[in-house]
Amino acid sequence: MTEATIEAYYLEDRTFPPPDDFRKQALASDDSLYKEAEADWQGFWAHQARELLTWFDDFESVLEWDLPFAKWFQDGTLNVSYNCVDRHVEAGRGDKVAYYWEGEPGDTREVTYADLLDEVSRFANVLKSLGVQRGDRVAIYMPMIPELPVAMLACARIGAPHSVVFGGFSADALRGRIIDAEAKVLITADGGWRRGAAVPLKVNADDALEGTETIEHVVVVRRTEEDVPFTEGRDRWWHELMQEADADCAPERMGAEDLLYLLYTSGTTAKPKGIMHTTGGYLTHVAFTHKYVFDLHPDTDVYWCAADIGWVTGHSYIVYGPLANGATSVIYEGSPDTPGKDRLWAIAEKYGVTILYTAPTAIRTFMKWGTEFPESHDLSKLRLLGSVGEPINPEAWVWYWQHIGGGRCPVVDTWWQTETGGIMISPLPGVTTLKPGSATFPLPAIGAEVVDDNGNKVERGGGYLTLTRPWPGMLRGIYGDPERYKETYWSRFEGRYFAGDGCKIDDDGYFWLLGRVDDVMNISGHRVSTTEVESSLVDDSRVAEAAVVGAKDETTGQAIIAYVTVRGNVEATDGLGEELRESVAKKIGKFGRPKTIIFTDDLPKTRSGKIMRRLLKDVAEGRDLGDTTTLADPAVVDEIKRRAEQSPQED
Ligand code: WTA
Repeated sequence: MTEATIEAYYLEDRTFPPPDDFRKQALASDDSLYKEAEADWQGFWAHQARELLTWFDDFESVLEWDLPFAKWFQDGTLNVSYNCVDRHVEAGRGDKVAYYWEGEPGDTREVTYADLLDEVSRFANVLKSLGVQRGDRVAIYMPMIPELPVAMLACARIGAPHSVVFGGFSADALRGRIIDAEAKVLITADGGWRRGAAVPLKVNADDALEGTETIEHVVVVRRTEEDVPFTEGRDRWWHELMQEADADCAPERMGAEDLLYLLYTSGTTAKPKGIMHTTGGYLTHVAFTHKYVFDLHPDTDVYWCAADIGWVTGHSYIVYGPLANGATSVIYEGSPDTPGKDRLWAIAEKYGVTILYTAPTAIRTFMKWGTEFPESHDLSKLRLLGSVGEPINPEAWVWYWQHIGGGRCPVVDTWWQTETGGIMISPLPGVTTLKPGSATFPLPAIGAEVVDDNGNKVERGGGYLTLTRPWPGMLRGIYGDPERYKETYWSRFEGRYFAGDGCKIDDDGYFWLLGRVDDVMNISGHRVSTTEVESSLVDDSRVAEAAVVGAKDETTGQAIIAYVTVRGNVEATDGLGEELRESVAKKIGKFGRPKTIIFTDDLPKTRSGKIMRRLLKDVAEGRDLGDTTTLADPAVVDEIKRRAEQSPQED
């Protein structure tokens, strides 16, 4: 990335130091964690591993680093489900609520740590009775119901790595993942509720299993109570198996480097990558980051990560991190606009949520819906807000801070990836002075640097984000493909992990994530980040959301095409398009001005809420859009939507 691009990135100058009353009660309120980590970063992680987790056998070896292969705490043994469940019950906290669960139709369940222990142990015995042994892979394709974390923890208890496939994925996507992992058992449900309709998980699962050879049994949770096809002998009901199962199951002594799970993520090729996460290092990383980034006070906080467990955010910050720390969390099954656009705020009020963690795309949707929905509920218990998944534009950050956080709550913008396992770049809310739109600084013990095209460190300015030291939650590889692991992450810059993100370091040393480098456009030799144009567009209060792509252009190499949705009461006129083009030109420079602005009612998104830019790019390149503002052709938008629904794997 050239300097010019980065120079042009939105200059946000407001700063937000930790409020005094927040700092006073914070677990970290000065730079001592950073200092400790800088003095001895490996020793720091060893200290956290011992302090935060319970080990069956302590470790002597902290790190074996044979770049790019890391082994953390290698000779230690532990069990993840023991750490997440048993030890809290043994310490007398069995009655504490682990999850307040709310189904979309309004049904609720309270799951205590003692309940979890009972169910996890029973289900672990169920898995054993179905022939699952230590090391066997188990596929999971479920809605957001308590049985999902129970199934994951039961796998961890007996040492069977799980592969959770998000319930919004198609049968084809599920099939590919089952085949790649050679899974022995599949756990699913009849369906789950989403926008008042039942998602047909069991039907999809049956479809997926055609053409797979390794699945011996399918366990089916009854959730929607719809009639579903049942294959005699292969398929078993969860509730029937659980009734018969013994509630005692000793946790396996697992090696710290034993595989805990696989989670598939899309790369640049069509074949998804099975990202491998192991036991001791991963749990240390997610427990540490969950505790300090969210300033968790487990006795008083009610924590809600409103992601889906099917993505890494849910694995690390709904299941493993919060449970390792003995937190009380909220899980919600369904859609944020069912039955009304205030559903999340109704839930936050009802359970007294104190910490909320969600994605910028959700925040921008709430902005679009209007402030009356959060305003109709009492959100005064909230004390901390988090953001994850994509760059958050300063306007959305400030809206979140003001309208959800009431101007009281620090906002932690957390950068990380499926591959990193846990948060890497983020404020510590009692320590860090925030800048809206910046993930601020690498966490203690994390080595992150920006480099230029030649791999030289950039002290101030823009380039590629790299990680310079191994970290305990790091991926241990791509399942079955060590070469691809080296090639994808470790070959671009010698000795560095290449994250695939562009990043700018400002004059104060703050990190500003600029989006994937594959989303960077080149206009007449100027590099422009899609993020920076989007950020300028959504800075206009009439704009709800914007997605920008670089489309091939004969003269300029690429041309900037912007898809824009406006707020409810705003009219999308040619005049507005012109104004927006000019305002971007003003903020970024003329080369950053979109050639075309297309107003649409909606942007195509994956089920996890990411805008499908590649699809928009295809659409932009397939049509002669002209050098003007264009109202989206409804047929094009229909097509965009149809394809968006069909290809959630384009995440
Ligand atoms: C992007 C999600 C800017 C980034 C946890 C990364 C972010 C990719 C942020 C990983 C953030 C995630 N600011 N960009 N705070 N968080 N990203 O694997 O491009 O679904 O590489 O993991 O999301 O997405 P993934």
